[in-house]
Amino acid sequence: MPPAVEQAMISKTLRELFLAANRVLVLTGAGVSAESGVPTFRGGGQSAVWKGLPFEVISSAAMLERDLPAVWEWFNYRRNLLVQLRPNAAHTTIASWQDRFSDLSLVTQNIDGLHQAAGSRDVIELHGNVWRARCFDCDARYSLDDLSRDEAVPSCFDCGGNLRPDVVLFGEMLPPGAFERAADAAQRCELCFIVGTSAVVYPAASIPEIARGNGAYLVEVNPERTQLSDLCDEVLMGKAGEVLPLLRR
Ligand code: APR
Repeated sequence: MPPAVEQAMISKTLRELFLAANRVLVLTGAGVSAESGVPTFRGGGQSAVWKGLPFEVISSAAMLERDLPAVWEWFNYRRNLLVQLRPNAAHTTIASWQDRFSDLSLVTQNIDGLHQAAGSRDVIELHGNVWRARCFDCDARYSLDDLSRDEAVPSCFDCGGNLRPDVVLFGEMLPPGAFERAADAAQRCELCFIVGTSAVVYPAASIPEIARGNGAYLVEVNPERTQLSDLCDEVLMGKAGEVLPLLRR
């Protein structure tokens, strides 16, 4: 643990707030999983590409219409990357906060399930989860563990319809109720942490703005400045797995 970082980074105000707060909101993005080995989408100036296709294309509703097997192949590739990865100190620290604060809300844009693997309960998943699938026709939900991996496109056990990854693709709406729950948490929180997101994708990026509008203290944790940095009361420039464990009673 780099002691210099500890003194320099965490302000007295934040330490006092962290000690006194009850209602805390944490919004996470791909950066919180970076130290686990999950590639981010945009950090470092370039964006992810797969088989020559920018991820915004392969991960789009249009591609779902045009080539469903290709979308499954892309998410099978993401899953194969993820399957051997483990939560890092950022995930485990956030998980420990759920027993520390009487009202902790964890909102994630990530589909990797690493928050749950670290022990976080009741995670608000804005963009779905790569370990689940759902039926186009009857909306039945499945864990990938229950599906055979031989089929290019698995079928629904109930109605025989095609299944699709239970992930929000570009051009699609968020899961019903997910944003509303996140916005509720933003309206009531005293302290809001924004961890590992470039804050370019809406409506997720509007959640800190709602928290700010309700007088919450905003703290960004990211090795790079983002579009939200100027809105924040405090910007902790560093890796989430190194910075978050510094916050303790
Ligand atoms: N700790 C904290 N932040 C980090 C770390 C780290 N170790 N490593 C990288 N970052 C930061 C980067 O600087 C960048 O600002 O994480 C951010 C990752 O940004 P994106 O790749 O744009 O990911 P995210 O903000 O989650 O993207 C939002 O866009 O692609 C869609 O649906 C996808 O949920 C995703 C959404």
